[in-house]
Amino acid sequence: MNTKSIEYIDKLSREHTLSLEEYTYLIQHQDAAIQEYCAHKASRVARSIYGKDIFVRGLIEFSNICKNDCLYCGIRKSSPCSRYRLDKEDILACCQEGYELGFRTFVLQSGEDGYFTDERLCDIVSNIHQSYPDCAITLSVGQRSKESYQKLFEAGANRYLLRHETANPQHYQKLHPKAMHFEDRMQCIQDLRDIGYDVGIGMMVGSPFQTEKDLAMDCKFIETFRPEMCGIGPFIPSHQTPFKDYPAGSVETTLFLLSIIRLIQPNILLPATTALGTLDPKGREKGVLAGANVVMPNLSPVSVRRKYQLYDNKICIGDESGQCRHCLERRMESIQYHVVTDIGQIRPWKEGDEYESK
Ligand code: 5AD
Ligand code: FES
Repeated sequence: MNTKSIEYIDKLSREHTLSLEEYTYLIQHQDAAIQEYCAHKASRVARSIYGKDIFVRGLIEFSNICKNDCLYCGIRKSSPCSRYRLDKEDILACCQEGYELGFRTFVLQSGEDGYFTDERLCDIVSNIHQSYPDCAITLSVGQRSKESYQKLFEAGANRYLLRHETANPQHYQKLHPKAMHFEDRMQCIQDLRDIGYDVGIGMMVGSPFQTEKDLAMDCKFIETFRPEMCGIGPFIPSHQTPFKDYPAGSVETTLFLLSIIRLIQPNILLPATTALGTLDPKGREKGVLAGANVVMPNLSPVSVRRKYQLYDNKICIGDESGQCRHCLERRMESIQYHVVTDIGQIRPWKEGDEYESK
């Protein structure tokens, strides 16, 4: 085995930090043995904090209308896809169904849809908050003003997912139209943190023009920002976008990144994403075995599922919420992990807690 890689992985599990060059080296020199070594360490670390518990989040994709034109995304403004928007009653009905299925976290996700003003969105959030006070409300609705984030927080939202997409400003510009700026995105992420949200960032693996150094920069950003969550999935081309002819990202590299990030921040919430499950039928199971500890089954009404296609061949578009929930439960049981129905908070962790794994 590559001894330098082993040395770096051991150092990372001890010190939770590497230099940019060391991360780059690790990503450039992966092979099956190194990936397995790293996954073994990472899943042990995850078990030492979370046992074999896997948190579930119910994902409600409530609008695919978007004012942005990100070059990779199947629901970008210029995409000819058919559009939909759920109203408050539809969204509350999804929550009700989810609650009965045992979900205690709802993730409300949409494109940047101008219809959802602060007033409308706060009204929805506070309704959910009042109806389900024992649930966490996660928003994933893109870039907004700090005032807007503040109002939504006061209405009852307590977590926010806003992937940074790439920590390299030059790479960011290649993935987005000129009107979108890396600095604005980073400012939003900082605003969310300052307000008091649990913040989730993240990136695609294998997005067009991405280099190993870009991924190393993502690792460095995670190290310094210390997000509560990090969503990582492979890039998958969408035929409705300018990136339609670019190859998909690698499942193996995505799994390797999950393991590295678990070692950077042992208690981080790390989803095994739908994109991973789309590229590999056992992708989410492999994600957990590489260090992930969250799954996000789809709670959106089946009638709109196929319209929320950020990328081609997305899985689960024909399955009822209950089916997705139980399918994931079975999948986790098949690798001796258990889906738990609680709010799924990040757990405290301190150095020395490690390796008391079950
Ligand atoms: N492939 C994989 N992930 C994608 N996303 C958007 N488009 C794609 C794609 N083609 C991810 C982005 C975004 C999240 C909601 O979905 O990272 O932040
Ligand atoms: Fe949706 Fe398996 S998770 S069908």
